[in-house]
Amino acid sequence: MVSIGELYTNVKAILENAGIDTYRFDAQCIMEQAFGTRLPSILTNSTAAAPENVMNQVREMVEKRAQGYPLQYILGEWEFYGYTFRVGEGVLIPRPDTETLVEQVLDICRENQLKAPRIADLCSGSGCIAVTLKKELPDAEIYAVELSEKALPYLRENARLNEVHINIIGGDVLSGQTAAGLCGLDIIVSNPPYLTGKDMTMLQTEVSHEPQMALMGGGDGLDFYRTITPLWRNSLRDGGFIAYEFGLNQDEAVSSILKENGFDNIQLRQDTAGIIRTAAGRKITEEMHNG
Ligand SMILES: C[S@@+](CC[C@H](N)C(=O)[O-])C[C@H]1O[C@@H](n2cnc3c(N)ncnc32)[C@H](O)[C@@H]1O
Repeated sequence: MVSIGELYTNVKAILENAGIDTYRFDAQCIMEQAFGTRLPSILTNSTAAAPENVMNQVREMVEKRAQGYPLQYILGEWEFYGYTFRVGEGVLIPRPDTETLVEQVLDICRENQLKAPRIADLCSGSGCIAVTLKKELPDAEIYAVELSEKALPYLRENARLNEVHINIIGGDVLSGQTAAGLCGLDIIVSNPPYLTGKDMTMLQTEVSHEPQMALMGGGDGLDFYRTITPLWRNSLRDGGFIAYEFGLNQDEAVSSILKENGFDNIQLRQDTAGIIRTAAGRKITEEMHNG
């Protein structure tokens, strides 16, 4: 017989030996997922025998996790900005860094008194940005554009799960046709793929399980910013905003792309780790520029 307490100890030991830095947290999540309740209440019965079916479930999850499979995919859901999002193979796992981007958009709305803004989230993935913005700004009209056939079902499911209505568009953000389908936007927000060719050769095991098309931003990682900025400019109203997330040390290049394409008042933000992570700029027209 294996007791519940022993099972928990074994899970922690296996994950620690596999080199998982967050082994305590991961072990807790796996136990809670298998038992369907919180750890303190599981451990109130720590001397009782662990049920066979639960042990099998735990074993399966631990084996995957020990091999570097992402915890988030094992659990099937993850939290972002206090909301729950379903995740699995084919969709990028929402990152805390991206909460900085959401906050920047919310601040733009507050500062400019945009009570019912029209916002497009390009490269929407799980929908963590689009769905969160709709939760925080219930009167906003939100469009979420995503190309991946694997990610789109998660996007739809996450809107349903969080009980919001957003307009989901299956389309290529790099195509003029997709951009032409939306106009009069107050804000474009995007966390596009931004890893460089070199980054792609050095992926952490966990990240290598995430979709390539969610990660790869071309040789220098900037392909999407270079194409989206001029292509989607016409979809923004005059004085509208673009807000981007980007990777380490891409702040200057992304700011330059925004300036070259007629955006000013570029505001950069750091994420919680102190890395400059987002940039937002305001669309200026010739008339605004001249006075
Ligand atoms: C970095 S992920 C961001 C996902 C989500 N917005 C987030 O912040 O977690 C980039 C997303 O862009 C999507 N994507 C890649 N190329 C695209 C394209 N040409 N048109 C639309 N979406 C694309 C990928 O499938 C992926 O979901």
